[in-house]
Amino acid sequence: MTAPVLEIRSLDTILHTPDGRRLHILRDVSLTIAAGECLGVVGESGSGKSVLARTVLGVHPRTTRTESTGAVLLDGEDLLAAAPRRRAALLGTGIAMVHQDPMTSLNPVVRIADQVTEAITNRRRLSRRARLRTAAGLLAAVDVPDPDRRARAYPHELSGGLRQRVGIAAALAGDPRLLLADEPTTALDVTVQRTVLDLLDQHRHNRGLATLLITHDIGLLYGRAARIAVMYGGRIVESGATEAVTRRPAHPYTAALLQSVPRVTGPLRRTLPAIPGSPPDPADPAAGCPFTPRCAAARTVCATKTPPVHHPGPGRTVRCHFPLDTLESAA
Ligand SMILES: Nc1ncnc2c1ncn2[C@@H]1O[C@H](COP(=O)(O)OP(=O)(O)OP(=O)(O)O)[C@@H](O)[C@H]1O
Ligand SMILES: [Mg+2]
Repeated sequence: MTAPVLEIRSLDTILHTPDGRRLHILRDVSLTIAAGECLGVVGESGSGKSVLARTVLGVHPRTTRTESTGAVLLDGEDLLAAAPRRRAALLGTGIAMVHQDPMTSLNPVVRIADQVTEAITNRRRLSRRARLRTAAGLLAAVDVPDPDRRARAYPHELSGGLRQRVGIAAALAGDPRLLLADEPTTALDVTVQRTVLDLLDQHRHNRGLATLLITHDIGLLYGRAARIAVMYGGRIVESGATEAVTRRPAHPYTAALLQSVPRVTGPLRRTLPAIPGSPPDPADPAAGCPFTPRCAAARTVCATKTPPVHHPGPGRTVRCHFPLDTLESAA
């Protein structure tokens, strides 16, 4: 087996907020992504998906001091131990990110050409003509029509779908090994969502890009992410092949998430799961399993003891005292 592009080992991330709170956001997160593979990360709002992506990218809000322990290995190099200059050099070239809303990640007063070519111009100077030509090529590769004209445009002159293509072109410009896509299509309408995800799939295949695809919506992962990691309260509570996990979930939280995904696809699909109760407070280091207050199957031990990791099938993990039965019935 070839070494993974990304390997995260026992990652914990603590945020120290400006008002003095200590928030333990990620707890004992481990995962791997191989070249050309897409790992889907799902979980409801506040489960730590974006903090995970930002920890891998190494970019956090300036006002919040961030402390991480464990290891984040990119092609075997530990990013948590890397010098700030080394990390900066990897931005765009080793790791790139596609954000949820390109309107907030793109600079409104800078032409598309200059934003799309940033990962290149950070390393070497390009003339204005070369920037326009390079940008048009990058835009054409993500199927932006009339790329020469769009390269000269400003973000507000483009539709949401086109702006997200620009975001993807900018992310791919530095030819990264790893792409972090944090809810890349949530801001788009359903028909545009699919074409943008197909585009990401196409580049993943052609370039052997390792991809971490974050979403609220398990339905988006079918046929795209071979493996899935389900996050709850900053932990990966279940992981494995998407097909196996979604057919026979082992964690009661995964089962609840799946029940909240309607069978229909298309415009009626909801993206927000409706599981009664609220997620755990990261400022409160409660003992036991964080899903206990919302879990129909919880028993006394769940509230007091951290659940062990079980392996309910090949390549699968689940953190639960009483995992659901994943064996196919003989009938
Ligand atoms: N800069 C910050 N300062 C304080 N708390 C933060 C900060 N960033 C994230 N958090 C907290 O960390 C937790 C995880 O946040 P995160 O943004 O990773 O969730 P998420 O899974 O991406 O949710 P969503 O689906 O809404 O995007 C939340 O409780 C959030 O309030
Ligand atoms: Mg998020």
